[in-house]
Amino acid sequence: MKNSVYDCVILPLSKIHNRAGNITIVEGQKNIPFDVRRIYYLYDIPGGEDRGGHAHKELYQLIVAASGAFNVLLDDGENKKIVTLNRPDFGLIVVPGIWRELFEFSSGAICLVLASHKYDSNDYIREYDKFIDFRTSNEKL
Ligand code: TYD
Repeated sequence: MKNSVYDCVILPLSKIHNRAGNITIVEGQKNIPFDVRRIYYLYDIPGGEDRGGHAHKELYQLIVAASGAFNVLLDDGENKKIVTLNRPDFGLIVVPGIWRELFEFSSGAICLVLASHKYDSNDYIREYDKFIDFRTSNEKL
């Protein structure tokens, strides 16, 4: 079965609330279906700028709007969907083989990403036509 945009699900995360605020905990293999080997975050994104515009061959990610809001376009070569992330206690699982674009960042938005692998430039597909080739030639994806 090939991965599709329908495998990219919004996951409710834990939230422990008290009068001093909230805390959300994410543990690899417990709350999300992969071990976390890398964390990074996008911030100070100028108005109107887009991020992403690529796919990954192997990488799983959890994307969280740790602050503010933004949209994520997901595309598996056949189906597309747009997800709005605007709560720090919800995350979007993005499975391998999905083209993604992040756009319409609110002012001050922070995009937190938990990733299943260390950075590997060879895991990226940065051109859309190569992504379509990858989708049609790869048996698994
Ligand atoms: P990129 O993944 O293209 O950012 P985005 O998809 O958010 O637009 O990464 C931007 C730059 O940062 C690029 O030069 C690669 C570098 N980078 C790393 O060195 N390590 C990392 O873990 C990540 C995510 C990016």
